[in-house]
Amino acid sequence: MALLIYSPDDPVELWRQELLARRPGLDVRIWPDLGDPADITAALVWLPPPGMLAGLPNLRAILSLAAGIDAMLRDPTLPDLPLCRMVDPSLTRSMSEFVLLQALKYHRHLDLYAAQQRRAEWRLYLTRPASTTTVGVMGLGVLGQDAASLLVRHGFNVTGWSRSPHELEGVTTYAGEAGLDPFLASLDILVCLLPLTPETENILNTALFHRLKAGACLVNVARGRHLVDQDLIDALDTGRLAHASLDVTREEPLPPDHPFWRHPRIDLTPHAASYGQPSTGADLVVENLRRLDAGEPLLHTVDRTRGY
Ligand SMILES: NC(=O)c1ccc[n+]([C@@H]2O[C@H](COP(=O)([O-])OP(=O)(O)OC[C@H]3O[C@@H](n4cnc5c(N)ncnc54)[C@H](OP(=O)(O)O)[C@@H]3O)[C@@H](O)[C@H]2O)c1
Repeated sequence: MALLIYSPDDPVELWRQELLARRPGLDVRIWPDLGDPADITAALVWLPPPGMLAGLPNLRAILSLAAGIDAMLRDPTLPDLPLCRMVDPSLTRSMSEFVLLQALKYHRHLDLYAAQQRRAEWRLYLTRPASTTTVGVMGLGVLGQDAASLLVRHGFNVTGWSRSPHELEGVTTYAGEAGLDPFLASLDILVCLLPLTPETENILNTALFHRLKAGACLVNVARGRHLVDQDLIDALDTGRLAHASLDVTREEPLPPDHPFWRHPRIDLTPHAASYGQPSTGADLVVENLRRLDAGEPLLHTVDRTRGY
């Protein structure tokens, strides 16, 4: 049994070290040095080129290095095997930290002060308690729940929306299509932490922006394809939305001529909100390899019919 690691972005050598520290003797191969493809029984991957996993005849499980697996599901040759998401306490914590940072940016008017600085304008906005700002989190999964709880601990008024109903301490929750309008209506800041599926693709569009209070802010830390780019530009230019923070874009890296780069009311980060850390994420990988050997169900498998 050998584990193949492939990622254009992750520190693959560090992953190998952390895995070996937990399971000495594990046969780890790092792409492109995979040896005989027939040896590979599990693959730990982020953005594998389409067709790559189909070329491994004895593969038995696909372990994602990322929480989102939408890109893999778009590969028509993806083998029909257990596919597991990365659920890692460091990844979760760093996402929550990033969401809190964005919420505080808007709550403390740092977006307005940055614009004022460009005009050499000195104007104070008095600070109100965090409880007067309502932050809504779309998606109450592993990441959404943790982010919502951190926002609550900070003192924000927090609401959440998901497909099925959830109860979360301190968070007013809504579910399904019927819950979307009441969820959106009260928000000062909308945070998208949905998985990308056929139901959620393009969900951040003009119709949704019109269901928000005028002047709300958007934080998209999920996937670029949740957002209709031109609809965001229109919403910002008409004042329907005040500002947007985008960690993800439809095309990554964002092409240099894309209007988002130069829009005065968009802040961009390069898909930097959170990553799985080898020092903590390796625990899940080793546990799933143990389960694979023992014939036990793997942890955090994706339901391919739901798409997440
Ligand atoms: N920017 C970054 O650096 C970064 C890093 C990691 C992850 N991400 C993104 O964050 C996403 C969320 O990760 P996660 O681990 O929290 O996912 P998760 O645990 O699978 O949770 C998904 C949540 O979205 C809800 N949902 C799914 N489809 C829905 C729909 N049609 N309508 C309403 N709610 C829906 C689910 O509802 P139920 O609870 O009812 O099932 C669940 O609450 C990932 O898929 C990835 O794209 C981004």
